[in-house]
Parts: sequence; C-alpha cells; structure tokens
Amino acid sequence: MLLRRDREAQADAVVSFMTADGAAALKPQLDAAFGGDGWVTADIRSAIGAVHDVAAEGGRFLVIGVRDEAEGELGAARELIAEAKLSGLKVILLAESLSPAAMHGLMRAGADDFAPLPLPPSALAESVARLRSGGLQPFGGSSSRNGMVFPVYGAAGGVGATTFCVNLAWETALEVAKSGKQVALLDFNFQYGTVATFLDLPRREAIYELLSDTSTMDEEGFSQALADYSGRMAVLTAPMDVLPLDIIGPEDVKTMLDLARASYDFIFVDMPQTLTHWSDLVLTESERFFAIMQTDMRSAQNMLRFLRAVKAEDLPIEKIAVVLNRAPRFTDLSGKSRARRLEQSLGVEFVVRLPDGGRQVASACDQGAPLAKAARGNALRKEIRRVARGLVRSVEAARAETAGAR
Ligand SMILES: Nc1ncnc2c1ncn2[C@@H]1O[C@H](COP(=O)(O)OP(=O)(O)OP(=O)(O)O)[C@@H](O)[C@H]1O
Ligand SMILES: [Mg+2]
Repeated sequence: MLLRRDREAQADAVVSFMTADGAAALKPQLDAAFGGDGWVTADIRSAIGAVHDVAAEGGRFLVIGVRDEAEGELGAARELIAEAKLSGLKVILLAESLSPAAMHGLMRAGADDFAPLPLPPSALAESVARLRSGGLQPFGGSSSRNGMVFPVYGAAGGVGATTFCVNLAWETALEVAKSGKQVALLDFNFQYGTVATFLDLPRREAIYELLSDTSTMDEEGFSQALADYSGRMAVLTAPMDVLPLDIIGPEDVKTMLDLARASYDFIFVDMPQTLTHWSDLVLTESERFFAIMQTDMRSAQNMLRFLRAVKAEDLPIEKIAVVLNRAPRFTDLSGKSRARRLEQSLGVEFVVRLPDGGRQVASACDQGAPLAKAARGNALRKEIRRVARGLVRSVEAARAETAGAR
C-alpha cells in the first residue's frame, strides 16, 4: 500500500512502519528532513513497490521503523532493507526496544544508519544530512574483514556434521589461499568437540581463558587462542575437559563471532547437537546455516523438530541449507525415492547431497587429516570441494553487488 500524499511531487524517501500511525507520529521530523512533500509512507509488508517507485524517481532514502512488538515482522523488514539497498537507497533504521541480535540482523541486512525510537528531536535530519554527504562508514567499519559465518549443525549424533564442517573449512582455505582471504574453524561443541581430533591439533589452555571472560578479549587475543593449521586455517579447538554447554552465554558467543568476523573472511562453526540458549543467536548471525542429516528416521525426525522450532521462534529459516549425508547413489532408485519423500515431509529441498565416501573417510579422521590430504580423489571430498567453491563464488558475487550498490 502506497499512500502518496501528492502525486506530482517527487518523493525522496519511503517511510515504512508496521502501522500508519508510526510514521504519522514522526511527521514534524520527517518534514524537517525531507520537506513536506518529500516522503511517502508504505506498510513494511508491502513497501517493495514503493521502494522501486521512489528509487526510479531518483529518491535516495528508506526510513524503516521496527518495534519490539513487531518482532514477527523482522524477516519482512530485513527483506525490505536488502531490496532498498539493491535499488540504491540509503537506509535509516529507527528501532524501539529491539534485542541486540534482531538489531544486528537488520544492520547486516544493509541499514546505513540507526536512530532510537522515541526519536531525539534532530536525530533524523542529522542522519539524513550525514548520509547525503556520504560521510558514514558501512556497518562493520572499514578496517574489519567483516567475515561471514557458516555454522554446521548435525540433526542427530554421528550424521557427519564434523566431517562436513572440517572438510568444508579446509577446502575453502585451499580455494582462497591465493587471494589472501582468511579462514577460521570454530569448535563450539564445548563438551565433546572433535575438531581437534579430525585435524590432529593439540587442545589449548587458552580456550579456558577465552571462555571464562570474553568481555576483555580483543581481536589479537582471540586470534592467539586459535591454533594454526598448516599455515592456512585458524582453529578454535574444544577444551580438554568436558564443560557445560552453558559455560558461555549468548553475549559471549556474540563477542566471539564479532571478533572472528573482524579477523577472518570465512568462519565455519561446528555446532553441538543439543540446542542451547545461544543456538538461535548463531543462526541469526550466520550467512548460511548448514543442517545435516541422513535418510534414517532418527535424523529425519530430529530435523523436522529442529525446523519446526526455528519456524515457531520466527528465526530466519531462509538461512538454513539442509544437507543430506550418505545420500543414495544415482542407481539406488528406492533410496532416491526415499530421499524425495523426506524432502516432501520436511518441506525442504536438499541443497547439498553428500555421497558415502566409504572407509577412507573414517580413516582420514583417524590419521587426523582432512580428505584433501588423506584421500584426495574420494567422492565425498570432491563434493565438499564443489560446495566450498560455490560458497566462495557466491560470497564474492554478493560482495561485488554490495560494492556496486554503494
Ligand atoms: N559421507 C560419509 N562417508 C563415509 N563416512 C562418513 C561420511 N560422513 C561421516 N562419515 C563417518 O561417520 C562418522 C561420524 O561422523 P562425524 O564425526 O562427522 O559426525 P558428527 O555428526 O559430527 O557426530 P557427533 O554427533 O559425534 O558430533 C565418522 O567416522 C565419519 O568418518
Ligand atoms: Mg561432531
């Protein structure tokens, strides 16, 4: 719905709230920032048309207001922000009592500036002036690498989450070796993490320090807690002792991900199978969240529950890529139809199908080496390499697009 106040005037801004009174309450500030005829309002859920119209007319701004009660509309708000960025608009986010994770998600969707609601008197006009003069750094700052987070979550024990995560990280590291991009692999399975075993790395004492107090940790301290693997990948191994999963809270996880993003371009996270009070945060912070399963009933049922929980909590389900491990071969017709039925009952498509790599896979793990080192020609390795290449390409494309849109 586009409530055009004056059909003749060219609007400079789309103002989008969940309800019309949100924008009406800010009329004086909006008039001051854009002029009385310079803005139009549109409902967040249906503002994409307005964004396109205003951008086509040479307009420059989207002002989007998101409130805590409208938490259910966060997805729509993120989509609108991303669309506005693609259309070349600057986005000013007005937020009222949003959780840090929700806020961060909206900023990462592309918001250029932010002001709190209730709005301080001249905040909007100042923000508009700043953005007009192009003086603001994109979120994340220019010094930071602004890395992307790719968690891997196994729907049931032993479905191959760590195998996929470790090899995906390593294949990515090989892929980006020449471009100077940095890869980190974080084992967030603080109880029984096996990444260290897969890569034959010693478990470090520094992890305890990191986990016991993330608040004082800086980028350098964080990188020092990570072990170097073959000079190409930094690895946070799980601690030596079994620690309770709630030894860290959402704020610590957020701090660790922020530190990781500042120093690394690709961050892979091996997630515990148990859902914790920070699992949703990792999903929200991720670029793409791999959820892996096999065709057995146990992992299928868990996956169904997991996807339901994500939907019920209104978390960004679109980030989840469901991976089928030990996928049936091309010639296995009954296996293939079983996989198809699984897709139907889960309401998803398997984005990745990993073949069974046979004994070589477990033996690579026993040797403490990624498949690329221990079994180069293995079918599983080739498929994971393909996924890594796709990932690197899509990240490069997304980066080029945002650079172009600025
Ligand atoms: N596609 C595959 N082909 C052959 N072997 C595989 C494959 N995927 C996993 N495996 C083997 O299955 C075993 C379990 O894999 P992995 O440890 O990666 O699972 P996980 O989901 O991380 O388990 P956990 O619940 O213990 O964390 C390992 O021995 C691994 O080598
Ligand atoms: Mg594992």
